[in-house]
Amino acid sequence: MINSNAQFPQKRMRRLRRNDFSRRLVQENQLHACDFIYPVFVLDGSQREEKVASMPGIVRQSGDLLMAQAERCLHLGIPAIAIFPVIETHLKSVLALEAYNPDGLVPRIVRQLKKNFPELGIVTDIALDPYTSHGQDGLIDETGYVLNDETIEVLCKQALTHAESGADVVAPSDMMDGRVSAIRNTLDQNQHIHTSILAYSAKYASSFYGPFRDAVGSAASLGGGNKYTYQMDPANTNEALWEVGLDLAEGADMVMIKPGMPYLDIIRRVKDQFKAPTFVYQVSGEYAMFKAAANNGWLNEEACVLESLLSFKRAGADGILTYYALEAAGWLKK
Ligand code: PBG
Repeated sequence: MINSNAQFPQKRMRRLRRNDFSRRLVQENQLHACDFIYPVFVLDGSQREEKVASMPGIVRQSGDLLMAQAERCLHLGIPAIAIFPVIETHLKSVLALEAYNPDGLVPRIVRQLKKNFPELGIVTDIALDPYTSHGQDGLIDETGYVLNDETIEVLCKQALTHAESGADVVAPSDMMDGRVSAIRNTLDQNQHIHTSILAYSAKYASSFYGPFRDAVGSAASLGGGNKYTYQMDPANTNEALWEVGLDLAEGADMVMIKPGMPYLDIIRRVKDQFKAPTFVYQVSGEYAMFKAAANNGWLNEEACVLESLLSFKRAGADGILTYYALEAAGWLKK
């Protein structure tokens, strides 16, 4: 006679994996369309659409064409879109004056979106890189160093301009110190108490932003420059917690970690420590990698992308900025 205890596993983990019903019952995380924010690139003019070479499937488009995409977001249950402008070269300057022009591209697009789709959340980017002739996120001194406090004054004007045009959420992605409290004060003093702040708190000096910089045309302005004096060192994790703590104390409503998949450990630590609404940005370089592999037939795009998006939820993210938002929401609907 065999001794069953010695022969067989005491506990069979596979029992609950055997059937679809029990797999679904014990599933710990789910992905939904309402987890997504869709980042879009906007151009001036009308009936304009340009492909982004390094981001197949993504276009830069004028406001009129964007309306159709906004409608698709609503239809698919995507709660919000994030706007990134392509600013014409003649409007870029050393002082980034166009960043707070009330009739600039972003305010006009926001007004148009709010008029047509008041229920769609609008997130605008607060940083100067689309507007500076040198492509840095802030104002620079004669050595090229990005000035912190001088930049914040411009960011506050930019945030106020966006709030006045109807943006629901302003998202400072510039990594200046103290910008969240300065923006909060500016908004409050101007009665925009309901405008939320989504702070890019742990934004790393990543090489995965390349395709984005092509898309908005800041790569050319930046030349050989980099953002190491303000964005975070990819080697650091404790520093991310410190940054998030500061931004929350300064009044951020939501925080963000960026990029996504190489920084899952940061999402988990931030969520565990602060329990605040935590977002992650699956950035342009991540999108480009999936598209390249998929277009070569090397990966099953739908399965791999959904797995990567789910990994953000598992790591603790409440929401995901992803260029795959429309496609992924479509896949989830099937
Ligand atoms: C700029 C900004 C960047 C991204 C979002 N806002 C690029 C950068 O910091 O150089 C990158 C997003 C992406 O790569 O998808 N403030």
